[in-house]
Amino acid sequence: MYDNNPTLAGIQKKVDESRQGEAFYQEQARGAKADGRHFYIESYGCQMNFSDSEIVASILAEAGYQPTRILEEADLILINTCSIREKAEETVRKRLRIFDKVKRQRPGTLVGVLGCMAERLKAQFLEEEKLVDLVVGPDAYRDLPNLIGTAEDGDKGINVFLSREETYADISPLRLDSNGVTGFISIMRGCDNMCSFCVVPFTRGRERSRNAFSIVAEATDLFSKGYREVTLLGQNVDSYKWENPETGERATFAQLLEMVAQVNPNLRIRFSTSHPKDITDEVLFTIAKYENICNYIHLPVQSGNSRILSLMNRTYDREWYMNKVRRIYEVIPDCAISSDIITGFCSETEEEHQETLSMIEFARYSMSYMFFYSERPGTLAARKYEDDIPLKVKKRRLQEIIRLQAQISQQHNQQDIGQTFKVLIEGDSKRSGEDFKGRNSQNKMIVFPKTEGLEPGDYCYVKINEATSATLKGEVVG
Ligand code: 5AD
Ligand code: SF4
Repeated sequence: MYDNNPTLAGIQKKVDESRQGEAFYQEQARGAKADGRHFYIESYGCQMNFSDSEIVASILAEAGYQPTRILEEADLILINTCSIREKAEETVRKRLRIFDKVKRQRPGTLVGVLGCMAERLKAQFLEEEKLVDLVVGPDAYRDLPNLIGTAEDGDKGINVFLSREETYADISPLRLDSNGVTGFISIMRGCDNMCSFCVVPFTRGRERSRNAFSIVAEATDLFSKGYREVTLLGQNVDSYKWENPETGERATFAQLLEMVAQVNPNLRIRFSTSHPKDITDEVLFTIAKYENICNYIHLPVQSGNSRILSLMNRTYDREWYMNKVRRIYEVIPDCAISSDIITGFCSETEEEHQETLSMIEFARYSMSYMFFYSERPGTLAARKYEDDIPLKVKKRRLQEIIRLQAQISQQHNQQDIGQTFKVLIEGDSKRSGEDFKGRNSQNKMIVFPKTEGLEPGDYCYVKINEATSATLKGEVVG
């Protein structure tokens, strides 16, 4: 079922590796009545989407549905979709073809499209994909039980209203396929940035921040259940800003970080994504102050050239970004920085492309997510600029970027050889049941032989003795 889909193959593997996830599903299966209804959910795109699926799962569980990982057993098949690039949408449409077949074999099965593609295409989806029964945007998940009822009565269920308030703050996510050690907490929704290439402001609506105390409560709850790492999620976490209209209590992102860091020194904090224009010194000082806030910042540059950055509406230029990177290394010397890069944006010249390459060297990214530009309907760039870089050129530039980043990552990792890191054990390594895998503060994956007395969720010190561009290998010391 997962053969021709690497993302899903990866997810499935993660699921298989996860003992706690397994236990959860078995528990749910035992609890299911013989006539209990089951839902199956697949997620694509960013971490936020995976996190949203856990909110959806919680809402469905309340409505009496049990999760299943067996497609053919589901009464309700959901796909949480991504619109960020054309390819992401193509993948979803391919999966819908497969769901169609299942639906034909099991009449009465409902198929629902959630997330960004549902929001982007709205009712058009129902015309294009005749066998889709539900179309539900990212702010309408509470309405799911109601929409399912409509679909069961033979009508199509659609709700794509975007909200200015919805943060799902009161919903306790049902942790699907979790390793029981690391979890995501959504801290805000939407995006107000309007980067010209990006579809997100149209699919996820206006930016809004979640109640800070509900975030701390969720982190505390996860810690009490054995989790040892939380990642605070938002499209632009540095513009997190919450105020209680009744009491006047407020929190900036730096203050929120501090509140979550104080839950327990053994709870690690990560966050994603930062916008270079919004990350403040206060945030950097907070990271430096707390040992349990990880020394790792995902700081997408998108392009290394000022003219392209201006066309992208990123609101910073090359110099400004470089100063931010300098400042990060000054305040947090052992910080790892990673990036997102888009190559072949409208009118990008070879010289401008070279500036992206030199930025990778300057910033010494530990890793990057790299893409060629994919025009998205309705975005500022689609309306204003011509997508004029030939695909062949985009692909060649992307290869150059990937090659350079691999070299830099390799060098970055080589420098770790001989060093000892505090590692949070996440579970068995992918390759061998004899090895554990875990991450250091800098978010690097480290593989090392299992040692008596250690288990997932424990911290240990690992000395690095081998490095590739993707992984570090070492052994437990001390
Ligand atoms: N084309 C290619 N990449 C894109 N991204 C966002 N929109 C596009 C697009 N239209 C990339 C950006 C962003 C990441 C999540 O996806 O690098 O940071
Ligand atoms: Fe994809 Fe962006 Fe939506 Fe996440 S927010 S699912 S990356 S389009």
